[in-house]
Order: sequence, then structure tokens, then C-alpha cells
Amino acid sequence: MVFEEMSAAIEFSNVSLEYGLGNELIKVLKCISFSVNSDETVSIVGPSGSGKTSIIMLAAGLEKSTDGSIKIYDQEITNLKENDLSQIRRQNIGIVFQSFYLIPNLTAIENVLLSLEANQKYDLDNEAKELLGEFGLSHRINHLPSELSGGEQQRVAIARALINKPKIILADEPTGNLDGENSKIMMKLLLDYTKKSKTSLVLVTHDTSLAQRCDRIIELNDGNIA
Ligand SMILES: Nc1ncnc2c1ncn2[C@@H]1O[C@H](COP(=O)(O)OP(=O)(O)OP(=O)(O)O)[C@@H](O)[C@H]1O
Ligand SMILES: [Mg+2]
Repeated sequence: MVFEEMSAAIEFSNVSLEYGLGNELIKVLKCISFSVNSDETVSIVGPSGSGKTSIIMLAAGLEKSTDGSIKIYDQEITNLKENDLSQIRRQNIGIVFQSFYLIPNLTAIENVLLSLEANQKYDLDNEAKELLGEFGLSHRINHLPSELSGGEQQRVAIARALINKPKIILADEPTGNLDGENSKIMMKLLLDYTKKSKTSLVLVTHDTSLAQRCDRIIELNDGNIA
């Protein structure tokens, strides 16, 4: 399933997320609604524990909502099976996780190519090298994550999210491990990419100056959109 460009890339309608923990019910997201257009950049800000990562996980279909509807390019994803979900992810979504999730025994370039199918790995090998080069890592492509600094690992994680030219990028604190200067450089790379390829970006960040560089800011507070 490859989706054509239509109105909303992501649409949350009355989405709730709850966890039962013992006899306590934890309401993480409380009936939230928002949408992100196909060429729009949106940042999500809010205090720790307000539900930002949860939104990313739901949009990626990596977490199941308790209630409500979530659409990716008009396709309802809340009731899809894992096979269909992973296909939608592979074809449409690039994710940068808060804790990069690089595979420890794969080199930088192998991590970038990780989620691709065998023939794509071959086709995109040069592109992966170029991307890593753009990110200042051409001298590090054969290093293992343990041989990279935190900031370098983060850049590998971002390259991995972009290699498949996704229509939607979900980035959870992608600059969290970078200093001010490098955060700005990464942010520019991400925004340049999204503008150039008309991609939508959902960026979770604590940094208000980075958040303000997006078209729109969604403020989360205790599971509600402020
Ligand atoms: N599996 C779970 N079971 C119970 N509670 C959970 C679970 N996962 C997350 N939560 C709770 O959901 C709330 C929101 O978590 P989330 O990770 O979305 O916050 P966040 O806004 O990303 O925070 P941070 O800025 O610290 O990354 C937190 O209070 C967390 O404890
Ligand atoms: Mg988080």
C-alpha cells in the first residue's frame, strides 16, 4: 500500500491511551485530536510524562490506542494487523526514537540500511554513504555504535529514518544528545529534507527555539492538548 498525497498525513480523532497498572488506571492521553498535513512540520512540546513519546508510538502503530481513530493518509490504522502496520511503516514512515535503538553489533552503515529489504540494501548503499557523509560521518561508516559518540549515534539514527525517503518523519528528541551548535545543524538537515521532499515532520523537543522552527506547535499537558 503506497498512499497518494491527500489532505492529512496523520489524523488523530478523540484518541485516548490508558494503562492499567495494578488497580490503578493511568490515563496517558485524554481524548486528543489533531492532524498534520502532508507537507507540514509540527513540533510537540510539553513536560516530561505529558505523553509526547506516546503520540509518536501511536502514530507509528507501535502502540495501540485505548480509544479513538488514527489515520495515516486516510487509512485507519488502529485495527490493522502487525503485517499491514509494518508495511505502512516501511513505506511511509521514518522514525527517530528517543533512545536511538541502534543495533550494537551492526556498523553505522548497516544500521542505516537495517530496515530495508535485501535488494533495497544493495540499491541504497551509495545513498546511505552519501547521507552519512552529509551528516559528517563519512569517516565513521564502519564503526559500531559503541565506537561512536552519543551525538554520532544520534546522527546515524536520523540517517536511518531518512534513507527510505519516508513521507512522514516522526522524531522523538532527535537532538537530545547534541550540543547547541550541532542541534541547529541537525535541525537544518531535517527541515531541509522535509521541505525538499515535501515530507511531514512531527518533532518532539524540549528546545523551544527548535520547536519554533516548525510550522506549528502542539502543546501537551498531562495528556491534553493545551
Ligand atoms: N507501559 C506503560 N505502563 C504504564 N504507564 C506508562 C507506560 N508507558 C508510558 N507510561 C506513562 O505514560 C506517561 C507518558 O509517557 P511518555 O513517554 O509519552 O511521556 P513523554 O512526554 O514522552 O516524557 P519525556 O519528555 O520524559 O520523554 C508517563 O507518565 C509514563 O509513566
Ligand atoms: Mg518521551
